[in-house]
Amino acid sequence: MNILLVGNMGYIGPVLARHLRQAYPHAVLIGYDAGLFAHCLLGAVALPEIILDRQIFGDVWHLDKTVLEGVDVVVNLAAISNDPIGNRFEDATLAINYKAAVELAAKAKLAGVRSYVFASSCSVYGCAEEGAKTESSGLDPLTAYARSKVMAEKELIPMADGRFIVTCLRFATACGMSDRLRLDLVLNDFVAGALTQKKIVVMSDGTPWRPLINVKDMARAID
Ligand SMILES: NC(=O)c1ccc[n+]([C@@H]2O[C@H](COP(=O)([O-])OP(=O)(O)OC[C@H]3O[C@@H](n4cnc5c(N)ncnc54)[C@H](O)[C@@H]3O)[C@@H](O)[C@H]2O)c1
Repeated sequence: MNILLVGNMGYIGPVLARHLRQAYPHAVLIGYDAGLFAHCLLGAVALPEIILDRQIFGDVWHLDKTVLEGVDVVVNLAAISNDPIGNRFEDATLAINYKAAVELAAKAKLAGVRSYVFASSCSVYGCAEEGAKTESSGLDPLTAYARSKVMAEKELIPMADGRFIVTCLRFATACGMSDRLRLDLVLNDFVAGALTQKKIVVMSDGTPWRPLINVKDMARAID
């Protein structure tokens, strides 16, 4: 089995790669990433990508179809993935998170890839005023980032057929350790504050609930 991990050099990618390497020791794992955060390592003694069979550096927009030759599964993690950046650079967010995600799926389908897994987000539901949302709840994307995920899902899902499986996983906010740790995520920020300043700063009155998922569980869900 040949698995292409696009956007693998961020927060979730290294954890996913380790999980897949363990679950499928004989699979060919290929990474593809622009390397925006390649140098943002925490405590790693070597690049986490050494467990892959191949790492390709490139923009998802320019992913050559030869990269998809013989690939069975594409996992697409590539995104501009936080709200402040998304709101400031809306066009780039839509271009990468939506248009490039759809374009990649189209190329993958044409190349005979069997399964395309898209990292979507539970932010597609917006605020839950009356209790927790479920997969059948209506969508209410409140940010450019959330809108980009809704737009991508809407075009990806109809691409599925008997030979091409499309899975959109609406992940909660991630937490937990990674070789490339993101500290803009709420629980990681709390832990970092507690450890470094002995203080957790809550940016609200403390009543809001928020769904969270450990990165290792994200990897299991993708698997
Ligand atoms: N972390 C979370 O809490 C969370 C929650 C829900 C969904 N997601 C989704 O999961 C995916 C991965 O999240 P993450 O936390 O690892 O994000 P991240 O920002 O840490 O990693 C994203 C990766 O995509 C790469 N990338 C961005 N633009 C690219 C481009 N044009 N071409 C090639 N590579 C590009 C970056 O270099 C980076 O390595 C994203 O799609 C994100 O929206 C994340």
